[in-house]
Amino acid sequence: MAHRVGVIGGDGIGPEVTAEALKVVRAAGVDLDTTDYDLGGRRYLSTGEVLPDETLDELRGYDAILLGAVGTPDVPPGVLERGLLLKMRFSLDLYVNLRPFKAGASRYNDGVDFLVVRENTEGTYAGEGGFLRHGTPNEVATQGSVNTRLGVERCIRYSFDLARGRARKHLTLVHKTNVLTFAGDLWQRTFDEVAADYADVETAYNHVDAACIYMVENPARYDVIVTDNLFGDILTDLGGAVSGGIGRAASANLNPARTGPSLFEPVHGSAPDIAGTGKADPRAAVISAAMMCDFLGEADASARMLNAVDKTDDVEGTTSQIGDAIAAAC
Ligand code: IPM
Ligand code: MN
Repeated sequence: MAHRVGVIGGDGIGPEVTAEALKVVRAAGVDLDTTDYDLGGRRYLSTGEVLPDETLDELRGYDAILLGAVGTPDVPPGVLERGLLLKMRFSLDLYVNLRPFKAGASRYNDGVDFLVVRENTEGTYAGEGGFLRHGTPNEVATQGSVNTRLGVERCIRYSFDLARGRARKHLTLVHKTNVLTFAGDLWQRTFDEVAADYADVETAYNHVDAACIYMVENPARYDVIVTDNLFGDILTDLGGAVSGGIGRAASANLNPARTGPSLFEPVHGSAPDIAGTGKADPRAAVISAAMMCDFLGEADASARMLNAVDKTDDVEGTTSQIGDAIAAAC
């Protein structure tokens, strides 16, 4: 039976890379029934709408959502981030943001093969805070970090399960427990308690600043990393940079409890400067789509897609030429 997928191509290079991702999914033999949604900066600028509640409710009915990228230069910061991306992450309870990184040895290090599990519904992203005396010389701005036992624990349990299924069975908690003594304490305590249920998984802890050094100099120490929302945001851009660039950085925004659809998107943005030039690398979108197939129970097709991305590693060309090469290798 066809999987029902809501497709949000979005802005800039978003629709271009999404088209290639769908091409590759079909070449891998996965039957999709797709419906396009016009959301993003262009829609906002023409109608003033970001993500109407009716649209969100409709999206809840799909098996998965595939997103390209949203953002146009004329939209003020925060409108699409909070109103579209974070609204979907929070409303659909996409509490795990899973980001894989893989690359061969380079002049910087001996190769990369790790996954980051970024908590995706809490922390500083929760939107706690506000202004006092806005715009005056005595202005106060606060932006708190929300960490719940439930939110932290479900993310940590997901990470232990993930690590258990991998060859190395190694999980590193990344935080800043030496300074964030409240949130860090909750994370560390929960991590230690859950670890007791996973005696077969080896654990480690790194402060986030040190993790930035290790990720560049010795990424081989990492297998699975679990971390809070903001640290995960920053660390995964670094992960992209040390493993072949952001054009390869994929992500799965997962609702592991499966109370609704999960959402799959490349980490790169809409790159308006190269939109329409055919210069966008569709690989991050293809890898995200492979993660979608895996989550939909199409493990074989997903493995073929990832293998095809590996085999066509040195293919250069336009967005659609790269997509064609990957599709042919599936
Ligand atoms: C990401 C992006 C988003 C984030 C923005 C666009 C809201 O940077 O997916 O990493 O900060 O999570
Ligand atoms: Mn980011």
